[in-house]
Amino acid sequence: MENSALKIKEWLNSHKIALPFLHVVLGSGLASSLDEYEKTQKDWTLKGVLPFSEIPGINPSTAPGHSAVYKFYEKNGKTLSFQTGRLHGYEGNSPQSVVKPLTVLCDLGVQKFILTNAAGSLQTHMKAGSAMIIDDQVNMTGLNPLTGPNDEKKGPRFPDMSKCYSPGINEILKKNLLQKKVEVHHGTYIGVNGPCFETAAEVKLFSNWGMGAVGMSTVFEAIALRHRGGEVGGISFLANMGTGLAEKAHEKLSGEEVLEEGKKKAPLILSAIFMSAEELI
Ligand code: HPA
Repeated sequence: MENSALKIKEWLNSHKIALPFLHVVLGSGLASSLDEYEKTQKDWTLKGVLPFSEIPGINPSTAPGHSAVYKFYEKNGKTLSFQTGRLHGYEGNSPQSVVKPLTVLCDLGVQKFILTNAAGSLQTHMKAGSAMIIDDQVNMTGLNPLTGPNDEKKGPRFPDMSKCYSPGINEILKKNLLQKKVEVHHGTYIGVNGPCFETAAEVKLFSNWGMGAVGMSTVFEAIALRHRGGEVGGISFLANMGTGLAEKAHEKLSGEEVLEEGKKKAPLILSAIFMSAEELI
């Protein structure tokens, strides 16, 4: 077993925490709201927080709004884990490093995952502040976490991607987001490297291709998890309209705007995720 997996296993054992039945990655804006949300709900008890910095082989996060820790919650002996913060290619991480916090859990036996992100809407009817269920993805980064020698024990050399996102998990997420009165759309997420936001020409291109949302994360994680046989649900929180699509098209995009917009809807989305977790045990 790799050092990172060993460390997490030992840490879970020493804290008497069972292996999670579901692991959730919280994207920008949503991540910083988990601490507050935790206090407003009574069902799940926080059992421990493990910072990435304590795990050999996992890079620290440098992205704004990403504190990069695992948080473990328990209810009736079942563990639900969150990752507040993720690693991105634009921070200088290789695709393999980006996926490490997730693949290590997969290697320990976690099978179900929910990936969330903040993204720019590429369709005028999908307004900022709404959510998009990720039905499928396009990896526009030109890179792939499976590049290099393949470990056949983990997954096949040429993994099938026909069901990259699980219709079952996504259906549960959609139902609970709607119950929380979050406007929900469906669409394809196109992952770019960043860190600059897209030009208006790029947004026009992606939009004409029929893509739903654009962002700088998630695609490597979904690929690596599917390779290992993980089941993946996905939500994009549409934090802003893609460049040039807003009614006030002259307005500039900023990272702060993305984080602020996320914070407003975060409690509703978190609540929908906790509700969904109950159905995925
Ligand atoms: N583009 C890329 N990534 C993003 C955006 C965007 O408009 N909004 C939030 N993350």
